[in-house]
Amino acid sequence: MTVEKIPVGILVATGAVGQRFVQLLEVHPWFDVAEVAASDRSAGKRYREACTWRLASDIPAAVADLVVATCEGPFRSKLLFSGLDSSVAGDVETAFAAKGHAVVSNSRNHRLDPDVPLLIPELNPDHLEALAVQRRRTGGGYVVTNPNCSVVGLAMALAPLHRAFGVDSAAVATLQALSGAGYPGVPSLDIADNVIPYIGGGEEEKIETEPRKILGAFREGAFVLADFRISASVHRVAVVDGHTMAVFLRLRRSPSPSEAAAVLAAFRGEPQERRLPFAPERPIHVLEGTDRPQPRLDRDRERGMAVSVGRIRADGLFDLKLEVLVHNTIRGAAGAAILNGELLQARGLLP
Ligand SMILES: NC(=O)c1ccc[n+]([C@@H]2O[C@H](COP(=O)([O-])OP(=O)(O)OC[C@H]3O[C@@H](n4cnc5c(N)ncnc54)[C@H](OP(=O)(O)O)[C@@H]3O)[C@@H](O)[C@H]2O)c1
Repeated sequence: MTVEKIPVGILVATGAVGQRFVQLLEVHPWFDVAEVAASDRSAGKRYREACTWRLASDIPAAVADLVVATCEGPFRSKLLFSGLDSSVAGDVETAFAAKGHAVVSNSRNHRLDPDVPLLIPELNPDHLEALAVQRRRTGGGYVVTNPNCSVVGLAMALAPLHRAFGVDSAAVATLQALSGAGYPGVPSLDIADNVIPYIGGGEEEKIETEPRKILGAFREGAFVLADFRISASVHRVAVVDGHTMAVFLRLRRSPSPSEAAAVLAAFRGEPQERRLPFAPERPIHVLEGTDRPQPRLDRDRERGMAVSVGRIRADGLFDLKLEVLVHNTIRGAAGAAILNGELLQARGLLP
């Protein structure tokens, strides 16, 4: 028996995140890419002509000849995955929610809105309760966001430790990949033989703020932020994919490194219980090697959907320090949004 797939639209399909959506959805069992959009520069062209395809696979045949639409729509797909530039994402996503669409967004614009879930399905699926509040405002459609790409890795590593031992404060230094800046991104002469200790767009503030919403609660119709503080320092490095983070933690109850490793390795969430198609079997891979994780060796674990944690060790100044790696355009962006879409479908929340 063939089951009819759910048509989805990709706003916008030509960028670094949009291309990942197109690639990852090629063989999705539930979703079918029916519509693709981009800027006015690309609209009216066939996808293969509009897009500078940068991934190590062919453009999926079913998408290559789709004609690119503008972001004004209209779209027949009720579910829209958004990788829109933040300069335009805010208003465009609001408009589609008002028209009854479910917008699953990568952009920063709505992440901290008081009735918008900032969702990592393993960590805070209960935050979907905010949709009832949001839908009263919009009349039916809604926006669900996934976090900043570094935050997905950081929050995933913090959550089990926070539940078991209580995070008091965290310091994090990031080493972020080039694909995080989109395409063409950072000029080659700026980044070759170099590290740039700055990333625009409020990157440090996002890392310091978003985990507190994700690990906080949705109570009596409002989000309550988790009670810990984070200090972040970000760097762009000459790695193509995969954000690495050095994380230093002060905990309310101090575990040994092996206790912390056991808690991280045992962690599972609703996507694993429901066996959602994009769910990694083990969301956190705890690596034993003294020199792991490394982006080139570890970013593709479980098709890029697992977060890697290694070098968990005691620290004289903090309680623990560890290294975290996340594939920024898969688990940190398109894959994260697809998993959000799957959870919405599994919970019967798609319009
Ligand atoms: N890269 C990552 O790892 C990552 C991770 C998490 C979140 N994000 C977020 O995802 C979004 C997209 O990032 P990206 O890395 O994919 O950027 P990108 O490679 O620079 O792509 C930008 C996309 O936005 C479109 N666009 C630009 N201006 C537009 C306009 N005025 N109207 C409609 N479309 C417009 C472009 O379409 P054309 O091709 O037609 O110009 C292109 O498809 C950003 O909000 C970013 O912060 C990125």
